[in-house]
Amino acid sequence: MKVFITRRIPQEGMKILSQAGVCKVSLWDSDEPVPRAELLKGVEGAHGLLCLLSDKIDTEVLEAAGPNLKVISTLSVGFDHMAMDEIKKRGVRVGYTPDVLTDATAELTVALLLATARRLPEGVVEVKNGGWSTWKPLWLCGYGLSGSTVGVIGLGRIGMAIARRLKPFGVKRLLYSGRTAKSYAAEVEGEYVPLDTLVSESDFVVVSCALTPETQGLCNKDFFSKMKNTAVFINTSRGAVVNQEDLYQALSSGQIACAGLDVTTPEPLPTDHPLLTLKNCVVLPHIGSATYSTRGIMAELSANNLLAGLQGTDMPSELKF
Ligand code: NDP
Ligand code: DGY
Repeated sequence: MKVFITRRIPQEGMKILSQAGVCKVSLWDSDEPVPRAELLKGVEGAHGLLCLLSDKIDTEVLEAAGPNLKVISTLSVGFDHMAMDEIKKRGVRVGYTPDVLTDATAELTVALLLATARRLPEGVVEVKNGGWSTWKPLWLCGYGLSGSTVGVIGLGRIGMAIARRLKPFGVKRLLYSGRTAKSYAAEVEGEYVPLDTLVSESDFVVVSCALTPETQGLCNKDFFSKMKNTAVFINTSRGAVVNQEDLYQALSSGQIACAGLDVTTPEPLPTDHPLLTLKNCVVLPHIGSATYSTRGIMAELSANNLLAGLQGTDMPSELKF
């Protein structure tokens, strides 16, 4: 069977595929994204596709692959880059990588929250450029978690892992919103509240929901206008959940205190983007799951998902849709 892999992936995954001996692998052998034309050529007649969140898997790709295609395995937990309706119509199975990246992503979210709220990037720059003249009582002050209210939008696997990590910092109230209340929220004394309540009462708003038609552009002008002027906004889900023009206005006008983003639209964010001119906006290059071990395990899982899809057996992590 023929398999196309859209990028260089950790060796752990490649080893599993070569040792299995059930498929002939062709690989876009680069750290950079596969050009669209090469993707369309690469999938031609493929039985399996191993892709990344940066590959748009739409009707055109599915058509290019043709009727052989049995399985798409994505090296991500997010699946907003794939046309799920079209995939379902064709009876193609989908594998993804939940759970194995939860700890790494939650850890990065906490790091970004603290870096943003306590102004670490600004401080580092001041040390290097001579701006650090002496200890000053009013200089580089930020916001602390102790006694605060934290609001998590989307208390799923990662949202819950973030909440668990934040609670020991002395968080007083943990609010969350989503489509349904979660019984497991009791562990962090989470209060299920309407989105408006979360937005207006939180000192820290953390976005960890999936990108769906309902969450696209959720954080817009109206949303930011309800936040406290002292509130910190953090997004490690997907860039499109945020209206970036509205976020820029909220940050530059002092409507909210600061923001930390691990995800943007587009990715990469152009270096001349207005958000990058703001001292109160910390932008990271989508590194939530980027630990060596997590990426290795993600590669293993996506290779095993792919093999199971090719062989028609149970997948370790199949997306049910
Ligand atoms: P889960 O499916 O466990 O959680 C997703 C959450 O989104 C659910 O709790 C769900 O709430 C919530 N949600 C869905 N629709 C809405 C809505 N309309 N309003 C509010 N919340 C909603 O996924 P994970 O926690 O594993 O991953 C979450 C996302 O994180 C991924 O989809 C991906 O985009 C992103 N991610 C980013 C990474 C990074 O590197 N920055 C790394 C890994 C993931 P409910 O259950 O109530 O429907
Ligand atoms: C995902 O898995 O969806 C992340 O964005 C990258 O790990």
